[in-house]
Amino acid sequence: MQENLKGNQDVMDIGSLRKNTPGVENVIHFNNAGAALPSKATLEAQLDYLSEEALWGGYETGRKFQDQLLEFYSQSAALLNAEPSEMAYVDSATTGWQRAFFSVPYQQGDEIITSESAYESNYISYLQAQKRFGIKIVITPSTADGEVNVAELDKRITARTKLVAITHIPTSGGLVNPAEAVGEVAEKHGIPYLLDACQSVGQYPVDVKKIRCTFLSSTGRKFLRAPRGTGLLYVSKQYLHLNPFSLDLFGAQWLSETTYKTRQDSRKFETWECNLANKLGMIVALKELNELKTSNVWERIVFLANHLRKELEKVPGISVHDQGRVKSGIVTFTSDQKTAVQIQLELQNRNINTSVTAQSGTLLNLQKRNLDQMVRASIHYYNTLDEIDQFIIALRQIVSH
Ligand SMILES: Cc1ncc(COP(=O)(O)O)c(C=O)c1O
Repeated sequence: MQENLKGNQDVMDIGSLRKNTPGVENVIHFNNAGAALPSKATLEAQLDYLSEEALWGGYETGRKFQDQLLEFYSQSAALLNAEPSEMAYVDSATTGWQRAFFSVPYQQGDEIITSESAYESNYISYLQAQKRFGIKIVITPSTADGEVNVAELDKRITARTKLVAITHIPTSGGLVNPAEAVGEVAEKHGIPYLLDACQSVGQYPVDVKKIRCTFLSSTGRKFLRAPRGTGLLYVSKQYLHLNPFSLDLFGAQWLSETTYKTRQDSRKFETWECNLANKLGMIVALKELNELKTSNVWERIVFLANHLRKELEKVPGISVHDQGRVKSGIVTFTSDQKTAVQIQLELQNRNINTSVTAQSGTLLNLQKRNLDQMVRASIHYYNTLDEIDQFIIALRQIVSH
């Protein structure tokens, strides 16, 4: 199929963006919700930094790149409409999320409200907090579309509610949860709101002021196209009285045998040690995205993903499972002929990358829908209609043998 002017071909120069993405020459990469392909500039920034470290010393290189490394805060803040002092650099979405979650001083009988699309690692933390502090986990049901039911969430808030925590785009499908409407409710009740935006940052326009969240966590490796082992955490300046469960010598200063002084910005949620080559790579990825603008990226991703869904529906025996009124670049499906694992492996043998989403990733949602493993094909802006055609041809061959 010919690439047309839709899908933001007119505002995004897809040809040159692909030229600057070495991986697209090797594979059809529909595993962007796993880890997207980085740009050439991101890769080179990392490699150059690593060789400087090896040739001149890690601390010395850190000092040399001091100013460039600080750009993480302005670039990530610009992306999310936050202030640079509200941003923290972390090594994964989970690290950021856990620091935020465990910063709330829970007491026996306190309640946290989450939803049916809660992510596995996050829910494990809820269960740990239940064991350690005696909190109660309250689950908001979903609407018929699979979204967080905001009216039901509102009804579940009590005097004991200490946190509202939801996932923006869950791990197991195209669903986009109504993050802004949830923020409105949390703000009305004056309750901290933790948004897992791991799969929305980079593909969907995310604005922390519109969402009114207290905390927002994301990984670098997915739609931001940053290296693995990177992540970000936003902490609203209005909630800086909260501290991470454990502070290190970067988040606080040791003053005497009995005292320490905590940092005054959101960087207290960081740790001193981190992989600076990765951080520099993430800065390049953030700059590239800020130049492209997430609104353009989102339009193109939606165009491509909807096209993929439409084509999948035409393949005999394939069922598409994405929920939500708004659907993202994450496309999930099953076949009545082959398992998700078989399809993923056979696609990979043809140099087409996808992933398998396990039931445990969003256990509550997938058990309720009686779904187990699904193939997850996740699209980024650098993918093309032609790649979707090739994908569909390969899938038809796989499921008919
Ligand atoms: C919704 C969601 N939250 C959190 C994570 C965890 O991200 P990380 O592996 O960077 O900790 C994932 C990863 O798949 C995810 O899909």
